[in-house]
Amino acid sequence: MQVITHLSDIKLLTEQIRATGKTIGFVPTMGALHAGHLQLLRTATRDTAVTVCSIFVNPIQFNNAEDYRLYPKTTEKDVALLQENSCDILFMPEATAMYEQPALLKFNFGALEQVMEGFYRPSHFNGVATVVSKLFHLVKPHKAYFGQKDLQQFAIIRQLVQDLNFDLELVCHAVVREADGLALSSRNQRLTPTGRQIAPQLYKALQLGKQLAERRSATIQEIKNTVKTFLQQYPEITPEYFEIVDAETLQPASGFTRPAALCLAAYLDNVRLIDNVIVDAL
Ligand code: PAJ
Repeated sequence: MQVITHLSDIKLLTEQIRATGKTIGFVPTMGALHAGHLQLLRTATRDTAVTVCSIFVNPIQFNNAEDYRLYPKTTEKDVALLQENSCDILFMPEATAMYEQPALLKFNFGALEQVMEGFYRPSHFNGVATVVSKLFHLVKPHKAYFGQKDLQQFAIIRQLVQDLNFDLELVCHAVVREADGLALSSRNQRLTPTGRQIAPQLYKALQLGKQLAERRSATIQEIKNTVKTFLQQYPEITPEYFEIVDAETLQPASGFTRPAALCLAAYLDNVRLIDNVIVDAL
């Protein structure tokens, strides 16, 4: 695996790869890699000739300085994992190189970013769209892989690619979970042992909501109330939102005739966790 830190080097290298006619698969990450990231990488390796993974803890997408400071950094382990999983190129730029000048461009994704993560994390998606645009220009992938775990992020990037005609295909990978249902996340490392035991209840809550929807026995409001009541059994969990939205537009769902997403964010041990499940059109 080639490890590259300089922007000029990755630009040149990916230009050369493209010139040989090989396809580039790209998995952008912020490191602290887990099996979820590695699944994305494996899919990319299967689909494309050359896989590039980036590790960059993007300062401008953190609306909370403490969250940025505490974001886990496990670089040596990450490098070994990528090597074991057949990554061809690791791009690991410095923040000073990515933001030589502070980025001034501001994205506005309209209604897409006025709900859920966009509402509770102002400026977050602006930071994501900025860094993903930069990375797409540098890496020039044919295919880029993202996780459904960050459903709203995927919707924002889909809009970005469409609006700016990025010449690439986006792939959305299903949520990768622990055996007990907890969605894998770099932030899980910050949970206490008790928090870790309680955390799968978030997925249980989502499954409960999904079951109610599929039984067609409850209205949207009733499902929301039942899920919220379920979570109240766990005083350690402080829900931030639980929403039932159209899976594509992310606007509040009025029924289940179109695919819907049940999305939640909650604090546990001061760690912010998010998860979602999809309910297919009924
Ligand atoms: P990060 O949180 O490191 O996630 C990198 C990619 O892995 C994202 O596309 C995310 O959705 C996916 N992912 C994380 N956990 C997953 C899980 N349990 N199952 C499936 N996929 C999972 O998301 C980011 O980084 C950043 O915002 C980034 C896109 C790199 C821009 O800075």
